[in-house]
Amino acid sequence: MSLSLVIFEREPDTVEIIKGYLSEKTDIVINEVFDDYNKGVRYIKENSPKIVVFSMTPDKSTCYKMIHRMCEFGANVIVLSEDYTTSNIIQALRHGAKDFVSKPVIKKDFLEAAEKCSQADVKVMKKSQIVAVYSNKGGVGKTAIAANLAVELTKLTRDKVALVDLNMPIGDVTTFLDVKPSIDIAEIVNNANPENTDFIREACCKYKDTDLYVLAEPPYIEQSRTITPKQVLKLFECLRNAFSYIVVDMGTNVDKLNMSILEYSDFIMLVTVINLPLIRNCQRCLDLFGGLGFPESKTKIVVNRYLENDEITVDDVEKAIKKQVYWKIPNNYYTMMSSINKGIPVSEVNENSNITESFTQLASKITEDMFEQDLKG
Ligand SMILES: Nc1ncnc2c1ncn2[C@@H]1O[C@H](COP(=O)(O)OP(=O)(O)OP(=O)(O)O)[C@@H](O)[C@H]1O
Ligand SMILES: [Mg+2]
Repeated sequence: MSLSLVIFEREPDTVEIIKGYLSEKTDIVINEVFDDYNKGVRYIKENSPKIVVFSMTPDKSTCYKMIHRMCEFGANVIVLSEDYTTSNIIQALRHGAKDFVSKPVIKKDFLEAAEKCSQADVKVMKKSQIVAVYSNKGGVGKTAIAANLAVELTKLTRDKVALVDLNMPIGDVTTFLDVKPSIDIAEIVNNANPENTDFIREACCKYKDTDLYVLAEPPYIEQSRTITPKQVLKLFECLRNAFSYIVVDMGTNVDKLNMSILEYSDFIMLVTVINLPLIRNCQRCLDLFGGLGFPESKTKIVVNRYLENDEITVDDVEKAIKKQVYWKIPNNYYTMMSSINKGIPVSEVNENSNITESFTQLASKITEDMFEQDLKG
């Protein structure tokens, strides 16, 4: 049986080259060539071709969105682009492309990609990623980091992101983003069904007109006490089906519930500020995670409220905990306080501030790491 292929390309010469290469592949039939990309996406939705050759335009963010949509419609997408920087390749693959071929298109590379797509079965969706923001001490900036990281991940990935408040019994994510969810975790864990992704999305509260969804902690302290690790894991199973990224603002307790959440997460952002007791504490957490068998690479040390001229340097911290610091978030009291008081992320207070830039870059770094980890399987 022959396989249907569709080409998105505005340069006639490249179309001819691709047609020439494909003439050798008797199992592939070119159905259509589009220079109007929106029309092309509609065609893919209605006709489900097996392979799409998608040539990127300079408007990268729109291209990534289109790649994502075409993959959702079940197509195996080969991306062509003159820009073969690592970040472009990673973004294209992260949005679901099966392969990336640089332009001008070389025959061998193109035919290998086409072969790979011919043999690919149904597209396997990338596993969604859970990032737990944790410290066993209060007040270090867990909520500030979880909320702002979730906002930046939503902007960067254009995917659906959940921000979950598991700082039970007294969470504050809803205050940081000034949202008022009508349903909370306690209700969801009792009614959630992993197959029903609409239910879980509707149960969360959308942050403004974005793809960020907030899930609040239970309103009554007694309700939080009844939530079991088993229920939280079921909740995560539901969230994984409904969202691509899940950021969890954690409580400080070193108890069974929190350890199960950390175990089930893909990444742990272990937050500390630079002072001796907290650094020692951080070391203890690392020992504990090691004892629980968490892979070393899963835990990332995030230094919050970082000051350039601090008496204790990042070098000192790294020596003390025998682990590299993953990220430093600058101390910016004014922007952070204004953000909390207004119930908006720091990027809305001042998009040019050092702290906004730090969160944007953190989101970018972590998505690249997630992608690499996902590829390793
Ligand atoms: N990078 C930063 N620069 C300046 N101030 C910050 C920064 N990060 C956090 N803060 C301040 O630290 C305080 C505590 O932050 P946050 O509420 O996020 O901590 P937390 O770890 O979630 O605390 P809790 O354990 O009580 O939930 C807030 O008042 C916030 O303004
Ligand atoms: Mg908090």
